[in-house]
Amino acid sequence: MQTHFQLTITKTASLALLLAALSSCNNDPRHPGYEFMPDMYRSPSYEVNSYNENFKNGQVNMQPVKGTVAQNHEVYLYPNTIEGYEAAGAELKNPIEKSEIVLEEGKVLYNDFCSHCHGEKGEGNGTIVDLGKFPPPPSFSNQLKELSDGKMYHSITYGKNLMGPHGLILSPEERWKIIHHLNKLQGK
Ligand code: HEC
Repeated sequence: MQTHFQLTITKTASLALLLAALSSCNNDPRHPGYEFMPDMYRSPSYEVNSYNENFKNGQVNMQPVKGTVAQNHEVYLYPNTIEGYEAAGAELKNPIEKSEIVLEEGKVLYNDFCSHCHGEKGEGNGTIVDLGKFPPPPSFSNQLKELSDGKMYHSITYGKNLMGPHGLILSPEERWKIIHHLNKLQGK
């Protein structure tokens, strides 16, 4: 007499055989076959803006875990405060070595991103200033002559008063290359 366990095995095996037969006995070579467990092939993933019952807030898209840094994004540890400005000025050094190429790249970037306000020679007389649309920024060869690289980097990153932030539109390398050019305008 068969035990209950053996019976179950026999049943399962027969079912598997039947399924195999069903899936293979199709004469149409272009028939894609049957899917017995479609979830295995097609994961029931969530639409980005749909409801997600697994989380309290019902969202699908989640905030990244605290401290996550997106690829190629800078971790800039100096806060946008007077103390952060002073600390950046005291501690930050230009990591990019000066060379003819770097100076040229810095100049091109400066002309594209800064000269309409600061002027090509950094005298605070860019095109929008000349048009009378903007008060003249301080001049690099005069008021900003002694400004340290770190403070300049900080202000370029966060912006300062009427100058907008450039931290998201210029990579750290680009900002430091521009600073080599600013040193030239400062007469350093
Ligand atoms: C919209 C006009 C404008 C643009 C564009 C602009 N600046 Fe400025 N910048 C200013 C003004 C105005 C100030 C003076 C801010 C103040 O001290 O109130 C300034 C100040 C500065 C300072 C001195 C900051 C300090 O700590 O005192 C630096 C350095 C500087 N800009 C660099 C740049 C660079 C580099 C770019 C281009 C990537 C740039 N700026 C783009 C208007 C501009």
